[in-house]
Amino acid sequence: MIGINRFIAWSLPALPKSWVGVVARHYIAGETLDAAVDTASRLNRSGCGVTLDLLGEAPETREDCRRAVAVYEQALARIGADALDAGISIKPSQMGYHLDPAFCRENIRHLVERAARQGSFVRLDMEDSDFVDPTLEIFNALRAEKFENVGVVLQAYLRRAMADVESLGANRSNVRLCKGAYYWEPRSRVYKDPAIINTSYTHLLEQLFLSGCFTGIATHDEKLVFEALRLIQTLDIPASQYEFQMLYGVEEELRQILVDQGHRVRVYVPFGKDWFAYSVRRLRENPRMVGHVFRHAGTILKGRLKRR
Ligand code: FDA
Repeated sequence: MIGINRFIAWSLPALPKSWVGVVARHYIAGETLDAAVDTASRLNRSGCGVTLDLLGEAPETREDCRRAVAVYEQALARIGADALDAGISIKPSQMGYHLDPAFCRENIRHLVERAARQGSFVRLDMEDSDFVDPTLEIFNALRAEKFENVGVVLQAYLRRAMADVESLGANRSNVRLCKGAYYWEPRSRVYKDPAIINTSYTHLLEQLFLSGCFTGIATHDEKLVFEALRLIQTLDIPASQYEFQMLYGVEEELRQILVDQGHRVRVYVPFGKDWFAYSVRRLRENPRMVGHVFRHAGTILKGRLKRR
């Protein structure tokens, strides 16, 4: 069954959006900023910090990018006005890197500068491997300008991560460590074996801790959560140097266990109309959810046949 679900997961882009949408809702706060702010307030009340992420990865025009920047400006204004424990995550693709790298850099700098004025944090998400160098270059330029409210992401599946962790560590960067999402990547660039990815994750986490980086431990894999807790204890890592990070709608029980144990936890809360690409990545990570898409599709089709 898992094998069939996995096959179907790769066919998701061919399915009607409405079928995927029913299950995708599980991973998304809603289509509006108001919905995201409501979710953030609720998560804050339950003891979690939040990262707001406006969905959308392939803007076609500069105007699309400016609209995304404007929504992030509004999000920062709401974070300030409602005193939310929240920051934002942005993607260079959404800021227009493929349209014009200089325009993208300026959009990102503008948001980081805007966030810095109110003490808010901006994370640069990491996308497919072609984006790693441009994203690190933008991040390093912002750090060279002395912006301290910006962080980046390290993907443990990347073969180059072992080298990147050294330069990030040397700069005491603020790093979110994750396994790496389901972008299509060749074996020459990424590890394909889940056991190696986990070993890489633990190795990189230890390097980040030892170099004094603030680290966002972004995973729902309990084996890695255990490894993180082990390193925190054996290396005597202070609470100010790390937080656990999880995606909205995923492993809420594990999240609550960590909160109850007194660890800081931050939830990544995506919102917006452009939810399809993000949802497909989440469903591919958990093919069992794909079964729900099909059960729902079956119900719709049965309903239609009955009406005929
Ligand atoms: P794994 O995929 O092995 O999952 C472990 C367990 O968690 C599963 O067995 C299942 O129980 C549960 N689970 C995981 N995903 C689920 C899902 N979608 N639905 C239901 N259950 C699920 N990637 C990237 O390339 N760039 C980035 O910038 C980010 N940013 C980011 C931020 C945050 C806060 C998180 C948590 C993750 C990311 N990621 C990311 C995604 C990350 O790279 C990875 O793809 C996912 O976190 C899944 O990997 P896990 O470590 O959870 O392990």
